[in-house]
Amino acid sequence: MTDAFGTPETGPVGDDSPYESFAHLARTRRTSMFVEPDRDVAPELVQELCGLAQWAPNHKKTWPWRFAYFTGDGRRRLGETMVADMVDADFGDEGKRLKTRTKYLRTPGVLVVGCEPHPNEMLHHENREAVPAGIQNQLLGATAVGLASFWSTPALTRPPRVLDLCGFGREDRIVGIIYLGWADGRTVETPERPPMPITLVTA
Ligand SMILES: Cc1cc2nc3c(=O)[nH]c(=O)nc-3n(C[C@H](O)[C@H](O)[C@H](O)COP(=O)(O)O)c2cc1C
Repeated sequence: MTDAFGTPETGPVGDDSPYESFAHLARTRRTSMFVEPDRDVAPELVQELCGLAQWAPNHKKTWPWRFAYFTGDGRRRLGETMVADMVDADFGDEGKRLKTRTKYLRTPGVLVVGCEPHPNEMLHHENREAVPAGIQNQLLGATAVGLASFWSTPALTRPPRVLDLCGFGREDRIVGIIYLGWADGRTVETPERPPMPITLVTA
């Protein structure tokens, strides 16, 4: 057992406990694009990871997640479509647009994750909170099977042409673009976590 900062300590939970396995997984997941460039990530596996997302808490069961998976030339199409949206929105300089055109080719798979809006303001916010909770499930699942993953935020979060390409609604918001590939064994520096004091109120 370790404490909140990863320091070993003794406790009621044994080293081979489900908690310890889970804590290890949570701590060893890294944001990484160190991938085998020519090894595909099968859509069936991505479908499985998308299923995991739906096991995150979701108040009122609104199922706000939206997914679109890009492989092969689809990744180039995603980049070109994003650039068309950038031009329409008068966003970014020539250098940024050039980079966007090819950036999705960096890993064999790219998963776009969207969030559906909700007419009720509270549920709208709760949808936005449920989607990242689901993404974390996916990232942990990806780590467990040996995939490297990298969560990024797109320059435009409601790019109309990209939303259409993804099959999402025009009011949906892109919460993350997740790069996926089989980890190639290179290690990524682990960003340190600061101490996390908690307020404890007992009476
Ligand atoms: C909502 C969200 C958006 C992110 N967007 C980016 C991004 O655009 N570019 C990037 O380099 N990292 C991005 N990251 C990854 C973080 O930089 C990364 O999680 C952080 O550096 C800690 O590294 P770790 O995930 O390996 O612990 C994003 C993470 C989250 C949660």
